[in-house]
Amino acid sequence: MTAAIIDGKAFASGLRGHVAQAVSELNSSFDYQPTLAVVLVGDDPASHVYVRNKIKFTRETGMQSVEHRCDANIAQGDLEMLVGTLNADPNVDGILVQLPLPEGLDSDRVIAKINPDKDVDGLTEVSAGRLSLGKTGLRPCTPTGCVMLAKDALGNLSGKHCVVLGRSILVGKPAALLFLEQNCTVTIAHSRTQDLPEVCRSADILVAAVGRPDMVKGDWIKPGACVIDVGINRIAHPEKPGKMKLTGDVDYKGAMAVAGGVTPVPGGVGPMTIACLLRNTVIAACHRRGWDVPDCLSF
Ligand code: GUN
Repeated sequence: MTAAIIDGKAFASGLRGHVAQAVSELNSSFDYQPTLAVVLVGDDPASHVYVRNKIKFTRETGMQSVEHRCDANIAQGDLEMLVGTLNADPNVDGILVQLPLPEGLDSDRVIAKINPDKDVDGLTEVSAGRLSLGKTGLRPCTPTGCVMLAKDALGNLSGKHCVVLGRSILVGKPAALLFLEQNCTVTIAHSRTQDLPEVCRSADILVAAVGRPDMVKGDWIKPGACVIDVGINRIAHPEKPGKMKLTGDVDYKGAMAVAGGVTPVPGGVGPMTIACLLRNTVIAACHRRGWDVPDCLSF
């Protein structure tokens, strides 16, 4: 048996199309164009690439993008002041501070300054609290992308056993809560979990978010299960000396022989993050103004 490849790249492209449609609806109904503000501090090359893509896709979906670039040695207070300015700007719907911040800056304190109603990354304590309480709010992007892909692969998730491997603030914990919101039976497994392979084998949906290359083996997977691989690990290329290669947390070949569907790395969960960020920006604009969120953004 060979599993289906869950094509996150194609799904994300479709989702960006829905975002563009929602933006166009806001344009016609309210003559409004949402704006995403991105803050980039320092000169980390990977962060520059991420931010460039975020800006490109923001504009492609018809929204406005504003970029604030800051020197790596900006004072903590000045960075927090910039966030305050964006909070106060009525034209800014979403604020994204690209992480990680350069050494010496406290990202927790910067994130804490973001107005939760503009927190399109879903990283503030208020956003986490709203998710945990089941209240309306902005949900973290990567975990939302995981739920969307699982729903696309399996349909209704109600009653399915979802095992989330990893308990990080950015992915594992919020993913567990989002799958719970879909009426899944959720298990959070981690490095101290006893008999991890056996726990994983009980999953209808297995979300791997531990950051350990190829950790989940084929025989950890229930036949026919849906495997969502969040890992993005850079390893030495096995065949090309001196080259690097991206690999997930799941042994892809092993999983493909057993699972029903598997997200590849790259091209699985990765592209969903930006698409969900754009979706959150439209949602933030609607919530803040008391408008209904366009139907094309529901899933
Ligand atoms: N750095 C890498 N991914 C992300 C993301 O999704 N949001 C932010 N703010 N920083 C990141």
